[in-house]
Amino acid sequence: MSLHITILPDAASFDRTAAERLYEQIAANPASVIGLSTGRTTGNMHRLLAEMLADRPLDLHAITFFGQDELTGVPASYNGACCQMLRTDLMDAIGMDDSHFLMLPTASDRYPQAAAAFTATLEARGGIDLLILGLGENGHLGFNQPGTPFGSTARIATITPELDARVRRELDLEPDHPLGGATLGLKDVMHARRLILAAKGTHKAAIVKQMLQGPVTEDIPASILQLHPACEFLLDAEASSLL
Ligand code: GLP
Repeated sequence: MSLHITILPDAASFDRTAAERLYEQIAANPASVIGLSTGRTTGNMHRLLAEMLADRPLDLHAITFFGQDELTGVPASYNGACCQMLRTDLMDAIGMDDSHFLMLPTASDRYPQAAAAFTATLEARGGIDLLILGLGENGHLGFNQPGTPFGSTARIATITPELDARVRRELDLEPDHPLGGATLGLKDVMHARRLILAAKGTHKAAIVKQMLQGPVTEDIPASILQLHPACEFLLDAEASSLL
């Protein structure tokens, strides 16, 4: 099966095309359930989508957005939290309240049940129509780090030592303060009707090559996307430079 790869010449056209993909999904199905990822790759996409919706409004009353991963053990107001980034970049600008913008649960003493209730809510709204995924430099998707079973479902996973150190520094946390990452599992990701894997920049070029041209292996979580029937790999020229 050939992979659906779109290569944009530069970061600006990448951001615009990514935002257009979201806009077109909402226009085609105003009751869409759309999963979003945060990070440097997707921030401009979210800000541009807000601009497009201001210029050319669409009916948003039946839409559901959700964040597919979130830090645990940090205050909800932390501006490095995925929820805050999505609010700042998109949700506040387009007036989405909590009935239209869901986040994976981050705290529960019965986490598996809370996570299952979250995925059941998405199913009740029709299931995930489009899920946008960023790509970690080690091949992670969400907080699914290398070695995560392909059959994994939503749960609280560990975060990388780099992210752990950054969050502790920014929040001045004690070394024993527990941090983690709530995330959809890889099975949940593969269950979405349509996926867009977004990657830009030279620092992603090596892992993009492994993801697309290497074996499908749990050592590179994103390699599973080769098996999804409707995954578009949206790349800028830099991220695609080793293909
Ligand atoms: C983070 C997030 C992911 C994100 C990825 C890429 O760890 N948990 O949701 O997609 O890394 O981030 P960036 O786009 O900043 O490279």
